[in-house]
Amino acid sequence: MRRHGPEGFMARLAARDERYNALVQRLGGRARPAAAPSRALRLQVTAREHVADDVVALRLEGDGPLPRWQPGAHVALRLPSGRRRTYSLCGDPLDRAGYRVAVRRLGGGSAELHALRVGTELLVRAPRNGFPFAGEPEVCFVAGGIGLTALLPMVVDAHRLGLRWQLVHVGRSRGSMPFTAELPPGDVELRVGRAGPPLLAHVSPQAAVYLCGPASMLDDVRGQLGGRSLHHERFVPPPVVGGRPFVLELGRSGRRLAVPADRSALDVLLDARPDYPVGCRQGYCGTCTVDGVRVCVERPDGGLLRLGSL
Ligand SMILES: Cc1cc2nc3c(=O)[nH]c(=O)nc-3n(C[C@H](O)[C@H](O)[C@H](O)COP(=O)(O)OP(=O)(O)OC[C@H]3O[C@@H](n4cnc5c(N)ncnc54)[C@H](O)[C@@H]3O)c2cc1C
Ligand code: FES
Repeated sequence: MRRHGPEGFMARLAARDERYNALVQRLGGRARPAAAPSRALRLQVTAREHVADDVVALRLEGDGPLPRWQPGAHVALRLPSGRRRTYSLCGDPLDRAGYRVAVRRLGGGSAELHALRVGTELLVRAPRNGFPFAGEPEVCFVAGGIGLTALLPMVVDAHRLGLRWQLVHVGRSRGSMPFTAELPPGDVELRVGRAGPPLLAHVSPQAAVYLCGPASMLDDVRGQLGGRSLHHERFVPPPVVGGRPFVLELGRSGRRLAVPADRSALDVLLDARPDYPVGCRQGYCGTCTVDGVRVCVERPDGGLLRLGSL
């Protein structure tokens, strides 16, 4: 039976994710293992804490034990306004009573999360993991600003497992860097600004590198990798380079929206419909798909993108 309303939407979203994962794996692509089957959970904000400049941490709890997750996992939150946003789990994976997310204030969705009060209920899609930690014997973690959220549970795991690990965390100021007091004792470099020696200058040539940070940091590290392996996750899509402007036509209303050369159709659609479903914004999760089109990455050849169902 087809379920309606937000819970029905989340259930259909979860089913689509699972079909996408199965297809990718059948085609021999990189597995994106889910820590638990994706389904909608109704969770309550039970605590909020200011953990760095412009960063709030929220604790989310349900009625009983929550689905398990592994370091690198994220959840998708449906906010009271209808917006959907994705956040890395940055608490303790062994804590089944609650999840922790930490949100840097940027635009409309994160501002809404900053304003949430204890007691607010949210629909949350169960954890999925596109950035699993393989636990190599030597590991270097490189975090840019809020990117530490995805890496913190890996650092704790690496320490617990007795691996040789290092962390380079770069922030625009010390006050902007969350969770520094929670880092286990070890080889931790906290860097203010990007000046200084190359990020991997003091990293063993055998180390596996795990990075979560902006595109410029990823480019820098790729240039210094040598023979090291790289695992990374991005919170923001790479900038659109060499794009051409086009028109997005919404078939149902006939509305036409101009998409500039440096923006995606999804960005422009979100201006008009803030509650349009959004996930990775990078073309891999399928959340924004309509009429078979991944709106976050699609750029038509002919100057017109028509989405009949919108
Ligand atoms: C797998 C995954 C995990 C994520 N985990 C976290 C997390 O733990 N904590 C967190 O704060 N965010 C995280 N994000 C980003 C988050 O989903 C939202 O994109 C972010 O909160 C901005 O949403 P918004 O509605 O405030 O801004 P919007 O209004 O949607 O965007 C405002 C502008 O900010 C840009 N932008 C979005 N995110 C960033 C960023 N991190 N740095 C710089 N510019 C950005 C957008 O491209 C846009 O131009 C994650 C994203 C993904 C895909
Ligand atoms: S938002 Fe993930 S594919 Fe578009």
